[in-house]
Amino acid sequence: MIELRRLTVGDWPLWRELRLAALAEAPYAFSSRLADWQGEGDTEQRWRARLEIPGAVNFVAVLDGRQAGMASGVPAGDRSAELISMWVSPAARGRGVGDQLVAAVEQWARQVGASVLRLAVAPGNQNAAALYLRNGFRYTGERGDLMPDGVRAEHVMAKRLAATAG
Ligand SMILES: CC(C)(COP(=O)(O)OP(=O)(O)OC[C@H]1O[C@@H](n2cnc3c(N)ncnc32)[C@H](O)[C@@H]1OP(=O)(O)O)[C@@H](O)C(=O)NCCC(=O)NCCS
Repeated sequence: MIELRRLTVGDWPLWRELRLAALAEAPYAFSSRLADWQGEGDTEQRWRARLEIPGAVNFVAVLDGRQAGMASGVPAGDRSAELISMWVSPAARGRGVGDQLVAAVEQWARQVGASVLRLAVAPGNQNAAALYLRNGFRYTGERGDLMPDGVRAEHVMAKRLAATAG
């Protein structure tokens, strides 16, 4: 069974644990680097600030009682929102956890009045691209942040959201 927990700022130690695991396990997937969040970059204040991005939502997925993944939604202005920090732990992959996290961020985006949900996927990250394509996202042709190699850039994908009540 997959459950999603919406985090509050007091959950920063859990977020920290999962985010460091994500950056260590899948450095190919993120423009942030593990080293940026270690050492001097690894402070309670910084993790709290990450969870307190104004208007944002942060989810942790629990599969059969074990922490299994994470994802966030952040407002991006002009009735758009962004899906970031998506990660499913290797042991939980291929079980629909990614779909549930995408669905939860999408639902949040509709609720806050966003008409488009955007995200950025690293070049060559086929598992993530397949997940997003299956969930209705399409490539926009725009490039996102540079990857840590300073050469390749993320590919931007977007999904139009129909307005819903509530
Ligand atoms: C991309 C990711 C979030 C997908 O999560 P997920 O919950 O496994 O998503 P899905 O269940 O939809 O599986 C996606 C695809 O992964 C592949 N997959 C299935 N089981 C897998 C496993 N045990 N291990 C690795 N990949 C697997 C399959 O191609 C699957 O597609 P399918 O359902 O059509 O077979 C996850 O692989 C991940 O965290 N990857 C590393 C971080 C990352 O890429 N984040 C996205 C940043 S944009």
